[in-house]
Amino acid sequence: MDCIWIVFVTVFFLWFTVMLYHNRFKLRSKYRNQLPSGTLGLPFIGETVEFVSCAYSDRPESFMDKRRRMYGKVFKSHIFGSSMIVSTDAEVNKFILQSDAKVFVPSYPKSLTLLMGESSILLINGSLQRRIHGLIGAFFKSHQLKAQITRDMQEYVQESMAKWREDSLVYIQDETKNIAFQVLVKALISLDPGEEMQLLMKHFQEFISGLMSLPINLPGTKLHQSLQAKKKMVKLIQRIIRARRKSEICKVAKDVVDVLLNDASEQLTDNLIADNMIDMMIPGEDSVPVLMTLAVKYLSECPPALQHLTEENMKLKKLKDLLGEPIAWNDYLSSLPFTQTVITETLRIGNIIIGVMRKAMKDVEIKGHLIPKGWCAFAYFRSVHLDDQNYDSPYQFNPWRWQDKDISSCNFTAFGGGQRLCPGLDLARLEASIFLHQFVTQFRWFAEEDTIVNFPTVRMKRRMPIWVKRVES
Ligand code: HEM
Repeated sequence: MDCIWIVFVTVFFLWFTVMLYHNRFKLRSKYRNQLPSGTLGLPFIGETVEFVSCAYSDRPESFMDKRRRMYGKVFKSHIFGSSMIVSTDAEVNKFILQSDAKVFVPSYPKSLTLLMGESSILLINGSLQRRIHGLIGAFFKSHQLKAQITRDMQEYVQESMAKWREDSLVYIQDETKNIAFQVLVKALISLDPGEEMQLLMKHFQEFISGLMSLPINLPGTKLHQSLQAKKKMVKLIQRIIRARRKSEICKVAKDVVDVLLNDASEQLTDNLIADNMIDMMIPGEDSVPVLMTLAVKYLSECPPALQHLTEENMKLKKLKDLLGEPIAWNDYLSSLPFTQTVITETLRIGNIIIGVMRKAMKDVEIKGHLIPKGWCAFAYFRSVHLDDQNYDSPYQFNPWRWQDKDISSCNFTAFGGGQRLCPGLDLARLEASIFLHQFVTQFRWFAEEDTIVNFPTVRMKRRMPIWVKRVES
């Protein structure tokens, strides 16, 4: 009996492999002259193992570099179960980012899709995505929100820094996560720091830990635990939404929930609003704190840049102290030009978001490369940001390079581009500026050895431990 099973399984496996190659062959002959060069690797796993092992190293782009040398800047591969065209070409990436949902739609791993929910702005397309994007973007650009965020951020940073002691290590990654999460949650749902915020943060951390898990939703699995945590968060946010719906509509929105509730289109259901509130907490817990942490790391390793940044910020502080004025958001973004170049350079070299993935809705040809319908296109920003054809000595942290460079060029896409350009980009820059200002004007520090981990998300291995010394004022 056992023998029959072994024969059956072997025959099935052989048949499956032949079919897989037959399909690949058919595909190859259909698009023989247009598909970018490259290899789809092994059956089933493709090139995932090599991709992941490079992703864990300190040079994740080495996977791409090797193929760029063999096949050019655009090549085909098979990663995470999908045939894909990988682009490390700035112009092809730009085309992908600028395209609408008739050409490309977002494509994320299954676990991420399940956790974010189908009404997440990161997944929806067409007029609904544009509507929500517009509403959120306009609110994050509003003078009133920026003023509130500046106040909150200054207050939370001050509170956090007041607790730092000179005789114990300060973990910058933990501190910035705490601060940025609270600022963002306040902007999203007006929740102040306290017990409920702590509970939300706890659930959120459980939720986020399953974002890159295996897509198996069974009791005991990581994905299941994350979904349970999400349910608890949705409950809390829906309670806030119900209370708002009962109270009189506030014409001047004080947070993102108000903005979405005030929308007259009636397309925005409570579930959609709750899902999106949770998605937007991700940058508060992840991207923004990582930006601040990496800036501290790169500055620690580049004394001239640190000195320039400190002088610029001390000058502004002295001026504001003399005038008896608080620093406003406009000061942070316009009166601290070198600080902004430090942030841009951190984004370029740190590559907090390595790229975006899209699924082709039809056969697409870009610069002579075919992306067949149904294939995934991976616009890989990291290689563009670290390409010596785009940047001199690309691995060197050099904020001065931005002093006479056009930041809006397609060689810099840390915040994406096109219709999905990050609506939180000003906010991220503002938060990072406030943190750096308070930090360099109040402290000198010594950073302990730490390394950057690049996968599945960018973070510091030891959470960026530093020893601080207060500056006499
Ligand atoms: C350093 C910080 C940040 C980085 C590097 C970053 C990067 C990005 C990138 C690359 C995209 C484009 C994704 C795509 O095209 O599929 C994006 C989209 C988005 N970001 Fe950010 N982001 C940051 C901070 C923020 C903040 C603070 C918020 C505020 C809540 C935010 C909210 C969003 C939203 C809602 C989208 C989706 C837009 C859409 O699909 O219409 N991000 N971000």
